[in-house]
Amino acid sequence: MPKVAIYPGSFDPVTNGHLDIIERGLKLFDRIIVAILTNPGKKFLFTLEERIEMLEASMKKFSNVEIDTFDGLTVDYAAQRNAQGILRGLRALSDFEYEFQMALMNRRLNREVQTVFLMTGLRWIYTSSSIIKEAAQFGGTIKGMVPPVVEKRIKEKFGGQS
Ligand code: PNS
Repeated sequence: MPKVAIYPGSFDPVTNGHLDIIERGLKLFDRIIVAILTNPGKKFLFTLEERIEMLEASMKKFSNVEIDTFDGLTVDYAAQRNAQGILRGLRALSDFEYEFQMALMNRRLNREVQTVFLMTGLRWIYTSSSIIKEAAQFGGTIKGMVPPVVEKRIKEKFGGQS
């Protein structure tokens, strides 16, 4: 049976850190479904369509990766897609508490789905969608932290300042 993982997240926007996790995740799983959370209660900088578009453009070099959207519980979506794993990246220690709590809750909700953490590549340890948005908003450069398509779209969002 092929090993399938979902890689859930907001991807607002996708970063090079995310791409690194997907690339390395593909060494463990036959297929990865990048699952974008659509939660209307959460405030995103990019619309769902924009987030999908940027992911698609950044993901061209990978085969065996699908992009999909979901709402509701991640474990329910994983079960619905017959995925055995939930892939998550871990950066600094600050990620740990939230990720630990979420992984334990997910396990409690569905013991058939295993959360698999990959330690971030050292280059991406301080890379997060939020910090990138903040830097770009105030004119800081984000070159090399995000795929070129994202760099362009962020510049457009913030009036070409980043
Ligand atoms: O990229 P993010 O924002 O850190 O991703 C968070 C995400 C989407 C993985 C998390 O918010 C999530 O799984 N949301 C769906 C609801 C859910 O299943 N929550 C965890 C158990 S209650």
